[in-house]
Amino acid sequence: MKIVVIGTGYVGLVTGTCFAESGNDVTCVDINADKIERLNQGEIPIYEPGLTELVKRNSAAGRLKFTTDVAECVPGARCVFLAVGTPMDEDGSADLSGIWAACDSVAPHLEEDAIIICKSTVPVGTNRKVYERLKKSLNREVHVASNPEFLKEGCAIDDFTKPDRVVVGVMTAEAAETLEELYKPFLRTEHPFLVMGLESAEMTKYVANCMLATKISFINEMANLCEVVGADVNEVRKGIGHDQRIGFQFLFPGVGYGGSCFPKDVRALMATASEHQVSSQLLQSVDNVNKSQKCVLFEKIQRFFGSELKGKTIAIWGLAFKPRTDDIREAPALTLIDQLLEAGASIRAHDPVAMDNVKSVYGDKITYCKHQYETVEGADVLAICTEWNEYRTPDFNFMKQQLKSQAIFDGRNLYDPQKMFARGFYYSGIGLKQ
Ligand code: UGA
Repeated sequence: MKIVVIGTGYVGLVTGTCFAESGNDVTCVDINADKIERLNQGEIPIYEPGLTELVKRNSAAGRLKFTTDVAECVPGARCVFLAVGTPMDEDGSADLSGIWAACDSVAPHLEEDAIIICKSTVPVGTNRKVYERLKKSLNREVHVASNPEFLKEGCAIDDFTKPDRVVVGVMTAEAAETLEELYKPFLRTEHPFLVMGLESAEMTKYVANCMLATKISFINEMANLCEVVGADVNEVRKGIGHDQRIGFQFLFPGVGYGGSCFPKDVRALMATASEHQVSSQLLQSVDNVNKSQKCVLFEKIQRFFGSELKGKTIAIWGLAFKPRTDDIREAPALTLIDQLLEAGASIRAHDPVAMDNVKSVYGDKITYCKHQYETVEGADVLAICTEWNEYRTPDFNFMKQQLKSQAIFDGRNLYDPQKMFARGFYYSGIGLKQ
């Protein structure tokens, strides 16, 4: 099938590449000429395990192309995916200017039977507006579908090719049939293709992300409570997770959720609720709990030093919002850095892949260390913000020698507290028994 994907961000690039891998003729389009030039040379603008090899293989096979020119690729295409960014406006609502610009640019080149499929996360009602806009500009019927994406950064290819489910919101059976054919290589009996109305599909995306964000804020609040009542959140987590109605996933306490999706989508759904005069108290609390949770490490460090942080040096491990990505959007590490700088502390930071992105935010305000052990040289304490695998079994003897206060503030519960005390560290995790 001939496919066009507009937007070469995370979702667009993974979607286009995986559809090329399943044998389709795919062209990815972006208005950023520099990005397209680099993609044509096999240079991938994002860090995503496995993606570079897949892009190169499919480009070499001629199934995956990159261009800035919609007029060149939209004619003859059966499916045109919109995967452009929908950043957050100041009031928390989604900025849809990218969607409208993409619609207007493809409209004149669309085939009669082409389906415009929106993969970007868009507020409920947007797809119907896309339909009306295209119908008006072309003065004929058009096929519009909503096909939200559930992939996670860092596992994007696996999530796309082995989805738990594929959700499509459609207006016609014909659009549903075409999309089912396209997704068939990735479907299994237990991983179904779910057809629903446009609005339900749009809502599904937000409800899924908000449910996951709620689980995280819930366990974070419980973890903070565990700590002060002498309970251990890891024991409690197991105690509840075995109840299949609750389950284990997204119940790991930490320093708050980050990334480009959960914070943005929780606030966007709140904005939708408010627009319709519907209460969203729970979502507001999820967002508030997360904002507070991002401050937990700073508060612990401040208490440890009796408030005075001026002149102290803090080592930080992990800057990305989660492992296996270089994405630092809404990363808890940034909140910690801001608070430490404000308090007059010095920072020595490490991340396996996100360092360049952090440099572009903080410049020379902090020290960037090539190796994780360099951060602890001359530092007072260590704070861990991201659970990269290489941080899981460090050389504790070396760290004990280096850290002046021999204290570790672990925002991801990487170590066993008893063993850490036995090794002679002051160790503080999230919700762990002291
Ligand atoms: C999330 C969803 O998981 C995807 O299904 C969705 O497609 C995507 O948003 C999106 O809307 O595009 P992503 O933001 O890539 O994916 O990352 P997650 O793995 O979901 O992690 C989000 C945040 O939650 C991270 O900061 C992570 O550290 C935190 N988290 C996750 C926890 O604090 N505890 C957990 O138990 C799980």
